[in-house]
Amino acid sequence: MVAPAHIEHAVAVLRAGGVIAFPTETVYGLGADASNAAAVAKIYALKARPSTHPVIVHLAAAEQLAQWAREVPASATLLAARYWPGPLTLILRRAAHVLDAVTGGQDSVALRVPSHPVAQALLHAFDGGVAAPSANRFGRVSATSAAHVREEFGAALDVVLDGGDCEVGIESTIVDVSGTQPALLRPGGISLAELEQALGAALGAIGTDAPRAPGTLKAHYAPATPLMLVDPDMVPELVRSFARQEKTVAVLSFSTMRALVPGLAWVSAPADAPGYAHALYANLRLLDASGSDLIVVERPPPQPQWLAVLDRLTRAAAGSGPPDTP
Ligand code: TXA
Ligand code: MG
Repeated sequence: MVAPAHIEHAVAVLRAGGVIAFPTETVYGLGADASNAAAVAKIYALKARPSTHPVIVHLAAAEQLAQWAREVPASATLLAARYWPGPLTLILRRAAHVLDAVTGGQDSVALRVPSHPVAQALLHAFDGGVAAPSANRFGRVSATSAAHVREEFGAALDVVLDGGDCEVGIESTIVDVSGTQPALLRPGGISLAELEQALGAALGAIGTDAPRAPGTLKAHYAPATPLMLVDPDMVPELVRSFARQEKTVAVLSFSTMRALVPGLAWVSAPADAPGYAHALYANLRLLDASGSDLIVVERPPPQPQWLAVLDRLTRAAAGSGPPDTP
């Protein structure tokens, strides 16, 4: 775990306008003082992220919500009380002081109270908002361990707080409560059914605000190796046909299917959605590092509990390949 001295040091770096990496229960974040535009600009530079793409402000507790949002609708109060601290991000109308550097110039702000004990310790000690996107280069696979963060950014980061492997493993669920009807912008650790039950109402469709949320870009969360999402019964034939062409294939399977061709990079992921999500980015990194020509992912079933995983896999397939391919 992280010693108090490390938290103090990270807080000092934040106060001085620096950038740190820290764990959350979803994925690692790249954090800067949300009230310091120059510090937030450093995150964008490190990630090579377009400046119009807004970042989430992380807070220690739900009570701080009203300091960052100028309107707190009943739906926000309800969801915050139920899920914070936890893997939920709320989009609200921003308070006047919230920087354009954080919101990408929009009138809304994304807020989240993470539950990871290291994130909690950091945010309580800092006593302000920490602007943080996921700790990966723009469009690439998120980091779920401190080692992944170092792989992405190497010596460019002075402080990487090591909180172990992230429990959820995929990014937070994003709900926009700034409009007339709450809408799901990004599926995540909290299921649609759970949210609708909590709200007592249906949520607006995913992606209605697509251009505002780059996590909803078609190509995202992608490895450098081309990735194909393939129906289970098609996997054996595809793998064998690539083997005949002397192409190396790396496979991410989830069922009882076992390695079909000797010598393949083969990962059998847990067959339950939370377990699969927990290991997803580590698995993609592992398969990406295998030096194979192609990553074949056995498509998980089209059931509601797989929504967030299928969302990430579909975008990974769309955006995969070397950085110079569109
Ligand atoms: O689990 C998470 O949410 C992680 C951890 C570190 O908290 N963070 C994360 O940040 O995934 P990032 O930047 O990779 O994704 C945040 C998403 C982006 O798709 C962004 O466009 C969207 O939130 N977002 C941020 N502010 C927004 C706003 N005002 N309106 C709509 N979408 C917004
Ligand atoms: Mg991200």
